[in-house]
Order: sequence, then structure tokens, then C-alpha cells
Amino acid sequence: MNKEKIQNALEELVDPSNEKTLKETGGIKFISVEDDKNSVNLVIALEKIDDNFKHQMTRSIAKVIKLDLKFTGVKIDYELLKRSDSILAKDNKIKYIGIASGKGGVGKSTVAANLALAFKRLGKKVGIIDADIYGASIPTIFDMEISLPKADENEKIIPFNAQGIEIISTEFFMKKDTPLMWRGPMLGKMLNHFFYDVGWDKDLDYVIVDLPPGTGDVAIDIQKLIPECEILIVTTPHTSASHVAVKAGFAAKELNHKIIGVVENMSFYKHGDTIVPIFGEGGGRIVADKLETDLITQIPIGQPISGHHSLFDMKEDIGVTYLGLANKLIR
Ligand SMILES: Nc1ncnc2c1ncn2[C@@H]1O[C@H](COP(=O)(O)OP(=O)(O)OP(=O)(O)O)[C@@H](O)[C@H]1O
Ligand SMILES: [Mg+2]
Repeated sequence: MNKEKIQNALEELVDPSNEKTLKETGGIKFISVEDDKNSVNLVIALEKIDDNFKHQMTRSIAKVIKLDLKFTGVKIDYELLKRSDSILAKDNKIKYIGIASGKGGVGKSTVAANLALAFKRLGKKVGIIDADIYGASIPTIFDMEISLPKADENEKIIPFNAQGIEIISTEFFMKKDTPLMWRGPMLGKMLNHFFYDVGWDKDLDYVIVDLPPGTGDVAIDIQKLIPECEILIVTTPHTSASHVAVKAGFAAKELNHKIIGVVENMSFYKHGDTIVPIFGEGGGRIVADKLETDLITQIPIGQPISGHHSLFDMKEDIGVTYLGLANKLIR
């Protein structure tokens, strides 16, 4: 039996996640035949992947391969179809920056939000994906009301917009008070939606992904969806944070993510002309050295003078620091 026959038979099948044939979607990615075992290996790309779609697809493939074509076995690996109308389409120029840390509370979301503002100020178009399921805080930082997003005429989810930045957060899709234990399993599906079903501005220059603390599953999901995502590590100067940040960095490296640098947040407190190292010193340097990357900037402890609780005016000192960070990343 040659591969062409298998290909032709499979092309008639319908991707259950979008009701198009595998011929139309180009979803048959790989076919090989193990003659000695009378078995077929396949890689099939589906537009959306969940257990239900995989189950349906597996059943119809098994019917064709085993009943119609008389093979004894079939092994199927699934991957996501890189749809041309999503922001994952290969021809776009979007740069993805994942903001990661080991420890929680070191300022990832604050850095993500202010970095987005700085990019915007430098004339870039920016989106933020808030992928922190356990404590999504981007909507709070931008003073956004939590409401269900609306869909456009193409049934794409319309991202929210705050200060000219497109924003999608897990929080918009999660029922209020969803127990933490359900949040993890829901996230994988949600991330697919964020990339495939959100009508992002096609001309975005940067998409910043606010990752949950730690080294966990989300990094792996992100790796599957956007292998080209580069990682910015945030730490405080304290060894308790830098120690775990190094681990998060190695986890990212293990997944083949490029690490673009380290941001040391809450580096010091400036009292008049005196610099007070409230949370210790050196954490950022240690992380950068161990991960063989740059300590790109140090952000002092401070609140916005503008009166906002988290967003800095790009004219005040810390705002200028964020502009410097954005500038370095653009270069
Ligand atoms: N440079 C800073 N100076 C003073 N306060 C800061 C600074 N950076 C962040 N904060 C404050 O620290 C707290 C934690 O920041 P943030 O929520 O950004 O951290 P996070 O790493 O995203 O936390 P989580 O792990 O919960 O997602 C917030 O109250 C924030 O306003
Ligand atoms: Mg956060």
C-alpha cells in the first residue's frame, strides 16, 4: 500500500474542529508505513485541539486505516494547524516576549504593563496576553472592568483595549470564583483561543505574554504555540527570588526559548541622594550570569507619581527606565 492511497483516503475526512476536510486544511502532515507491523504512523494537524476533537478524529481515521485499508495498527500524533488568519501565521512580523519569573510577586505584571506602555510610546503597536491563571492582574493594572469579550462579524473575539494596547486575559473567560484546581486544566484551551480565535490587530509589533510564576505547564503550552517566543526574566535583588528565577530561566532554555535578558525589579530605594538596597543586592547580576544573558535594567522601588496605582508616566524617572528597557529590546 503506498502513501498516496492513504493520503487520498484521509483527505476526505473532516477536521471536527472546523468542519473542513483535511484536504482543505492541509492537515495531513506526515504519513509513514511500518510494513513489518502492517501499521501506519500519522501526524495530523487540527485547527483546534481538545480531547473531544482528538477522539472524533481518531475514530474516523481508525475506520479508514483499519476497516477500509486493512492495516492492523495506526498511531496518530496531533498538532495545531497554523491557521493563516490567526496571529500565528508564519508571515507576520510579531515579536513575542514572555515575562517570566521563578517566584511570584516580583513585579512581572507591573513590568509587562509598563513595558507595553513604553513600546506604545515609542510608536509600536502592542498587545498583552495575560496568561497568569492564578492571579491575572493585567485587567486590574489597567483599571478594566471584567466582562465577557464580544465577537466580531467573523466570530473572532474582540480584544479589549486600554491606553491603545490590545489586551486579553484569562480573567475575562473565567467564571468569577472558579476554584483554583479547575483553572490549570482550563488554561491550555484558553491559550489556544487567545492565539487562534482573537481578532488581534494584524499589524501588532509586539505581543507581551504575562506568564504565571514558576517553571510549569504554561511554559510548555507556550512553547507548542509560539516556539519563537523570547523570554524576559524578572527577579528582585534578593537571593530568594534570584535563586528560583535561575531555575525558571533554565526551564525556558530547556524548552529552546531564547532568553533576551534579565530585569531586576525593586532593585533599591532612592532616598534623596542615598541608595538604600532594601531587598539586598546582586540578584539580577547572578541570574544574568548563570543564564549567560544580560542584566538589561534595574528598576527602583517606587510608586507612580502620576497618582495611578501601577502605571508610570513615561516622563517620570521610573517611566524613563521603562522607555530605556523598551528601546534596548527594540534594538
Ligand atoms: N518597582 C516596584 N516598586 C514598588 N512596588 C512594586 C514595584 N514593582 C511591583 N511592585 C508592586 O509589587 C506588587 C507585585 O507586583 P506584580 O503584581 O507586578 O508582581 P507579579 O510578579 O506579577 O506577581 P504575581 O506572581 O502575583 O503575578 C504589586 O503591588 C506592585 O504594585
Ligand atoms: Mg502577575
